[in-house]
Amino acid sequence: MRVLVVGSGAREHALCWALAASPLLTKLWCAPGNPGIGTLAEAVPIGSLDIAAIVAFARANSVDLVVPGPEAPLVAGLADALGVAGIRCAGPVQAAARLEGEKSFAKEIALAAGIPTARFARFDDPAVARAYCRRQGAPLVVKADGLAAGKGVVVAATVTEAEAAVTAFMEDGRLGAAGRVVLIEECLAGPEVSLFALCDGEQAVPLGAATDYKRAGEGDQGPNTGGMGAVAPAPAFSPALMEIAFGRIVRPALAEIARRGAPFRGILFAGLMLTAEGPKLVEFNVRFGDPECEALLPLLASDLLAALFAACDGELGDFDLRWRAGASVAVVMAARGYPEAPEIGGEIRGLERAAAVPGVQIFHAATRPAGGRLRAAGGRVLTVTGIGADLGEARVRAYAAARAIDWPGGFYRRDIGGSPIL
Ligand code: AMP
Ligand code: GLY
Repeated sequence: MRVLVVGSGAREHALCWALAASPLLTKLWCAPGNPGIGTLAEAVPIGSLDIAAIVAFARANSVDLVVPGPEAPLVAGLADALGVAGIRCAGPVQAAARLEGEKSFAKEIALAAGIPTARFARFDDPAVARAYCRRQGAPLVVKADGLAAGKGVVVAATVTEAEAAVTAFMEDGRLGAAGRVVLIEECLAGPEVSLFALCDGEQAVPLGAATDYKRAGEGDQGPNTGGMGAVAPAPAFSPALMEIAFGRIVRPALAEIARRGAPFRGILFAGLMLTAEGPKLVEFNVRFGDPECEALLPLLASDLLAALFAACDGELGDFDLRWRAGASVAVVMAARGYPEAPEIGGEIRGLERAAAVPGVQIFHAATRPAGGRLRAAGGRVLTVTGIGADLGEARVRAYAAARAIDWPGGFYRRDIGGSPIL
């Protein structure tokens, strides 16, 4: 099998790492990839949004399967374009990727399918939206309808904050077109879980559940980020809850979207809040989470490549994914100043020493080579995953490796998976 992974983060490094272990693999490329991915896959200098170039490359190189990491190419129609060329894509067509690309579409599917989710209203007039905030009272959640790279949600503790978010999104244009329409939602409470389902259009199998640490600072303080760490399996989630979430959320969503003529193939990410009334849907994404992927894939015992093929070919019916016992902890190392203003360019040393810690995998995100050295090239720079017999062992391993990395310009949360570790 000839496989092309699309993307350049730690999630894509983890995908390449898992695919490279498959006996079915004959050739692996990654567009555009990163220095860590370069040890596993041949780099292709094509950006992840250059759909025409990706399709042309896949055609010219007889690629059997394209595995997109991020959502943006899927929302822009990558799977559709590959479909026209007769090439498998382990991600949904544009009409199904709307589940992530338009939050109001996800809500429409949830309503039609009877999926438990926060009550909401949709607004295209800011004055009407602000009046609604005043009528409802706080707390409220204000969300930009479109793709906003994690910056489109404000959990407002006061009406003033909610109104300010409406103004920022709809009138100040802080998110561009993505914020022209907003949803205002009831605020849900409870532990959050990222649930993943591998889908073949009709059927779905669990791809695990993880806990994501979204805030930049320890104790869940500070600004929201793409994710500063993850733990798998999610401690708050049981096999019984997995059954309930599949029965009430994942399968009804798949059936509804298939009924509308856009069967979902690929990885469906359901962000859940475990409320007193049971799991409720916070949002859908149409791809693996980052850093959830770096925590989950090291626990997968089955062949990821075979599973993705089965998903593309509508053959998940009898597919059973096997998992290793134990747990994993993924610690994200970010450049100081992330997420507002990461300081890029700092030198990173000690990666070999860190990788030698038993039960550890290191995934690159934003690194770049510079004259035989490695430098930070963005906000989230590395993900260090520890795998162990239990959460405690996985943590000790992940943090032993993180400490071995010599990067004065970086920082990481010391409380992924428990109280702060020294
Ligand atoms: P998102 O950027 O869409 O992943 O949302 C960011 C975060 O906002 C979610 O992970 C939740 O922590 C929070 N959030 C979103 N919707 C709600 C809601 N209805 N109630 C409470 N928190 C929410
Ligand atoms: N870590 C959350 C996400 O990938 O959206």
